Amino acid sequence: MKPFEKLLLENKAWAEEKKLKEPEYFEHLEQGQQPEFLWIGCADSRVPAEIIVNAQPGEIFVHRNIANQVITTDFNCLSVVQYAVDVLKVSHVIVCGHYNCGGVHAALAKQRPDLVLTNKWLMHIKDVYRLHQDEIEELPSRERQADRLVELNVIEQVQRLSHTSIIQKAWKRDQRPVLHGWVYALGDGVLQQLITLPPGSMINSIYQYEDPSD
Ligand code: CO
Repeated sequence: MKPFEKLLLENKAWAEEKKLKEPEYFEHLEQGQQPEFLWIGCADSRVPAEIIVNAQPGEIFVHRNIANQVITTDFNCLSVVQYAVDVLKVSHVIVCGHYNCGGVHAALAKQRPDLVLTNKWLMHIKDVYRLHQDEIEELPSRERQADRLVELNVIEQVQRLSHTSIIQKAWKRDQRPVLHGWVYALGDGVLQQLITLPPGSMINSIYQYEDPSD
């Protein structure tokens, strides 16, 4: 059996088992979704959003990319945020990074000439490094430095979310969502909270909209 055939076979078994245990399962999901959470995570195969928080289909709206970034020119991520916040009306947005993140490690190294597109994506993490270079360089090992950059990168993405008109409008209009920054440890599977921004949190004035209801 080819590896991809195993996936299709597993899917068939999964669907049959679900239906057996709960005959209405798929009909119920077919009606629509009302997730309470938007998850912005890393594309890393070892950090699957639903599995690490034991969530079921329908509970979490998910966007994943290399190194869990919120880049203000990335229509992919921003349209996910807009849909989650304005249409699905999620109460919480979680940015989840993880230690040993290949994207963050690569951002600490020189650029690879064979990965021109990925380089550009990682450039934003290099900027986070430069913003906190003094703090990071004081740490004794490259590993500790990378771990700290993972954390600072998560915090930066949460702040970037708060800079968007989508979040500022929703905060003013609905007093939601709460923004969370978490980090996941591959070594023990445990999540840690790094930052929480409730609606109305202070935003540096250069990022504030004069009137976010416009
Ligand atoms: Co990663």
